[in-house]
Formats: sequence, C-alpha cells, structure tokens
Amino acid sequence: MKRIAVLASGRGTNLEAILEAVERGDIAGEVALVISDQETAQALQRAERRGVKALYLNPKDYGGREQYDQAIVDQLKEARIDLVALAGFMRLLTPFFVNAFPQQIMNIHPSLLPAFPGLDGVEQALAYGVKVTGCTVHFVDQGLDTGPVILQEAVPVIQQDTVETLHQRIHASEHRLYPTAIDLFCNDKLKVEGRRCMIIE
Ligand code: GRF
Repeated sequence: MKRIAVLASGRGTNLEAILEAVERGDIAGEVALVISDQETAQALQRAERRGVKALYLNPKDYGGREQYDQAIVDQLKEARIDLVALAGFMRLLTPFFVNAFPQQIMNIHPSLLPAFPGLDGVEQALAYGVKVTGCTVHFVDQGLDTGPVILQEAVPVIQQDTVETLHQRIHASEHRLYPTAIDLFCNDKLKVEGRRCMIIE
C-alpha cells in the first residue's frame, strides 16, 4: 500500500476528493500526512475530520526556502511517504525538495498545460478567449508547471462564464482526474520516458 502525503495551502477540495476516493477504495493507497503552509487552511481541518495527521509548518519559522523545504522533506521521509500530491500548495518547491522525491511529486493545475501555467490559470484562459480549457495532472520538475503530463481533461468555456463558474466546472473535473492519476501511481502504472508519461496496460 503506497503512502501518500498531500500538501495544500487553501480550501482543500482536491484533498477532500482524494480522501473520499481512498475511503471508497478507488485509490490503492492511504493518505498518511497532510501538510500546509497556512495555519487556517481548510485543508488541515478536512484532514483532521477524517483522522488524517495534519501538520502546519510556518515558513517564517525557517531561515529560508531551502530550510523550509528541508523541514517538509524530513516530515515526509519520517512518514515513509511514496507520493507527494500538491493540491493548491502555493509555493514553488526548491530543487532540493524535487530531487528528494524524483518522479514522486504530482501537481494539479487548472488549465491544459503548457497553456496558461503559473498563477490564475483560469483567469488567463478566460482573458485569452480560448473555447476549451481544462486541468492537468503532471509530475513536478524544477520548472513552473513544466513536468511530464500524466492526465488531462478538457472543459469547454461557455459564453456566460465568469472566472468563478469556469473554475467551478474545472474543479469538478479535477476531483475526478486527480484521484485517477494517484491510483495509477499507486498501482505502479506510470512510466516516464523523456517528456512522455506512459500508462502501463
Ligand atoms: C485547484 O484549482 C488546483 O488546480 C490549483 O489550486 C486549486 C486548489 O483548489 N493548483 P482546492 O484547494 O483543492 O480546492
């Protein structure tokens, strides 16, 4: 059984979807740890409500980004984590962190990468005027939303959309996609060849 950690800064609806999928038996793993950089993150409460260890680490308590990431990595190693799932974790990981978990860190992004990376992927798509956007689960590498794509799902943009309505539909799509990608990882079905992530049949 793979041991999963989820890192989240905010509402944690993706965390909730992952926890629900684990409870349903749709993910062949367990969420062993949730970490947040925000004391009041709803994600921490969601974890506690389901009896999952939830940890707040305050970046201000550490000398810099590297020291902070070292503290997170220490916690992850101590908990014998196999997969780190970023779910709205609003910090860029240092190379030290990425190297500590090679091809074991995933992220979910609210656009069809490589379109609209970085912050406000939904706003960017709406402002650009694309007719189709969506969400992407990818492995994390040293860049900003640049790692190998694991799964993507398209979401049509409708004429009446605001950032809120579009983000709502993308969220619904994320809540399906992320647990699916995590389950593939837990079943050792993902293999990265160069930039391509293959799903082993
Ligand atoms: C999601 O839209 C995800 O794509 C982005 O951050 C948001 C997190 O939402 N990386 P939530 O906290 O899981 O509700």
